[in-house]
Amino acid sequence: MLHKKTGSALFTEIQNAFIGLDTQYTLATGETTKRIYLDSTASTLMMKPAHDVVEHYYQHYANTHSTLHFGAKISTDYYQWAHERMLSFLGANPKTYACFFTGSGTTAGMNRLARVFKHGRPEKTTALVSIMEHHSNDLPHRKHMEKIIHVPLKERNGKLGCVCIDMLENICKEHQGQLNYIALTGVSNVTGIMNPIYEAAEIAHRYGAYMIVDGAQLAAHVPVQMCNPKHPEQNIDALVFSGHKTYYPGSPGVVVARKDLLLSVEPEEVGGGMVQDVFTENYVVKSTFPDREEAGTPNIPGAIGLAVAIDILDRIGMDFLFKEEDKLIQLALDKMTNIPGIRIYGETNTNHCKRVASISFNMKDLDHGLTAAILNDYFNIAVRNDCFCAHPYVKEMIMDDLMSGVENIEMDDIDDYIELKRGMVRASFGLYSKDEDVHALADALMEISKNAEKYISHYHVDASGNYVHKSFRFDIEPFYPI
Ligand SMILES: Cc1ncc(COP(=O)(O)O)c(C=O)c1O
Repeated sequence: MLHKKTGSALFTEIQNAFIGLDTQYTLATGETTKRIYLDSTASTLMMKPAHDVVEHYYQHYANTHSTLHFGAKISTDYYQWAHERMLSFLGANPKTYACFFTGSGTTAGMNRLARVFKHGRPEKTTALVSIMEHHSNDLPHRKHMEKIIHVPLKERNGKLGCVCIDMLENICKEHQGQLNYIALTGVSNVTGIMNPIYEAAEIAHRYGAYMIVDGAQLAAHVPVQMCNPKHPEQNIDALVFSGHKTYYPGSPGVVVARKDLLLSVEPEEVGGGMVQDVFTENYVVKSTFPDREEAGTPNIPGAIGLAVAIDILDRIGMDFLFKEEDKLIQLALDKMTNIPGIRIYGETNTNHCKRVASISFNMKDLDHGLTAAILNDYFNIAVRNDCFCAHPYVKEMIMDDLMSGVENIEMDDIDDYIELKRGMVRASFGLYSKDEDVHALADALMEISKNAEKYISHYHVDASGNYVHKSFRFDIEPFYPI
């Protein structure tokens, strides 16, 4: 049923097999061109072979809580396979780890884990996160733990890199005894900078803490090994990622965590499917996974589609994909650093910090919203702009710009300036991104940098602060399917 190819042959085939790669829009110039999708960090496009499998599966669709009829048996079997596939994809031993699906992404999983870890060890009231976290790996811990410490990042020539392992260890030492867990992103959703998660895990364990990894930007880009039999001290205790960032939109969030930790507290969510028996006076929770963690009817097709996408990633090989992406990121950094007036955020020397997926930048004298609007309206390049739900990190990097004299500004005006200017443009990549996409971005930025005044003159700012083209209007009506 599925492709029998593997490795680079499968990669070449799959690279072109995403829904949305041929989408066309008409631009401000009147031309109709193919969209260049550089917003994969927000959500990746859908892998078509995974979609095809789910369409086929719909013939048999049934609730996994039904058990006896044929469709229910097929659904239950497929759905169970999806859990097993997640565990093997992340190198998590099924004897000690469980996978469950939850909510719509990493956010739901991270909220669940914060509550589990808090209730599992209420006497340990402190958690560490880094300053580069997405709000989804910061606010749940702030809400549930008594104390949160933001670990600083390394800095080199005024550019921020990955989390500083020495400072992490010092903080752990200082707070030993109260430390419950470290929650660290594997990859920044702003700069694409990778964190040393295995080293951090070793430190966490040395000081009696658990290690949680936000894998939202990791899973689709980097090989992950939650269990390392040679170095068990580096094992990751729990990891969360989003299906919609792993080539299957509409799929759930994925949590993979140590069973003993999950079993130490009653599941946070209760209802049908997770109980052994219910009496009017009490109820007995199942001890089996994933049932005890998945109250209610799950997103069965989403989970199956994601498992197929992951199966294909594994067959291509995550090591192979990581190397391919490394070449693409290096090309993008090389091309972009040559554009006059560009500021690329975070450590750009990949010998010092590995990067995947995202590159964030600003163009001199252009607001991030305007750059993103021009890229869209004139070049059909889809990027994201603003603070990417990582306000402290973005603010810190903009502040660093000021301090390093990239911008000339009076100290008294700094807060106003940051408020006004905070935000960046982010170009981000997936396995369907090609060299030609990078060239198109670099050419567009070069053209914008050369003719900034011309482009600026086509826009005004509306009451909500958005850049609106003075004459071009994008008509959404024809895109409604019904
Ligand atoms: C690093 C990181 N963590 C967490 C999230 C939240 O993911 P979701 O929106 O799927 O809950 C994101 C989303 O962009 C992210 O990039």
